[in-house]
Amino acid sequence: MDDIEKELEQVQNEEELAVFHKNYLSKTGKLTMMLAGLKDMIAEQRAEAGKRLNELKRAIEVKFFQKQAALRAKAVNEKLKNDPLIDITVPAIDQPRGSLHPITLVTRRIVDICRSMGFLVVDGNEVVTEFENFDAVNIPSDHPARDMQDTFWLTNGKVLKTQTSAMQHEILKKYGPVVSAIFPGRCYRNEATDASHEFAFFQCEGMMVGKDISIANLIYVLKTLLSGVYGKEINVRLRPGFFPFVEPGFEYDASCPFCGGKGCPVCKHSGWIELGGCGMIHGNVLQMAGVDPSQYQGFAFGFGLTRLAMMQYAINDVRLLNSGNLEFLRGIKR
Ligand code: DAH
Repeated sequence: MDDIEKELEQVQNEEELAVFHKNYLSKTGKLTMMLAGLKDMIAEQRAEAGKRLNELKRAIEVKFFQKQAALRAKAVNEKLKNDPLIDITVPAIDQPRGSLHPITLVTRRIVDICRSMGFLVVDGNEVVTEFENFDAVNIPSDHPARDMQDTFWLTNGKVLKTQTSAMQHEILKKYGPVVSAIFPGRCYRNEATDASHEFAFFQCEGMMVGKDISIANLIYVLKTLLSGVYGKEINVRLRPGFFPFVEPGFEYDASCPFCGGKGCPVCKHSGWIELGGCGMIHGNVLQMAGVDPSQYQGFAFGFGLTRLAMMQYAINDVRLLNSGNLEFLRGIKR
């Protein structure tokens, strides 16, 4: 076995590989002949020897195919490298090139900015437990806040994530008690669709937990993030708002990046754009994830990525984003 393997290892090209195949694996090859020779053995020995020989042949065959694939890849690469007429970096002629989806573009932008601030980027599940989506973020089954999110329930009792907040518990348990993370993700709600509602949409959530984390840190992170997204200085304003998983909780607005706060159709002439919710993470949420709220505290914020993309690229119908409509995608000014 070892000798045959060594011989295979030393094979340098496809011609030598063909010789190897002929010598061992073909109809007249040594291994095939040995298998054929089994019939002359006495019955007691035949079963055991047959088993061993078959295993050996199969193992060699696997190595043979691996070698063949490696040699072929090497040959193709060499050809591409040495042929002056082939330059694989030249874009195809007369072929429209693909492009990134608006959601991907905004997500990447946010991810880049948050990474530069030291945030982990976590990719969450879309199917989560009822506990993660609701109870773990302080929305027990009798809480009226459950009514605000018409949920898709699966037959196994799990749910399609209605909010990226559903990831908080898992992240705190896995990386806590000191953690900064953002977690963009697709969410689902059982909504009738129209130009501004979709049953599948994207949110982005951020969270920072540690010692002495305060609302000042929250405002700084939001300002830095939004200024980075819009490429200009953005102001952030908090208004009191209720979300069961934060205390105190806020809704936050960004100064309108399109008119600089003077008033325009995008901000409905108010100078501010409502973006999402935020606040200091509720002690119950920390405690349920094993983080001691008397020692650690932190903030969380969430916003609609889909909405952000729609504003950024002046998209007036949310359904276009999931439509697979190439004309729409080509029309996006990046
Ligand atoms: N999960 C909320 C929603 O879908 C948004 C949200 C509000 C996230 C406040 C937060 C927060 O992290 O602190 O409506």
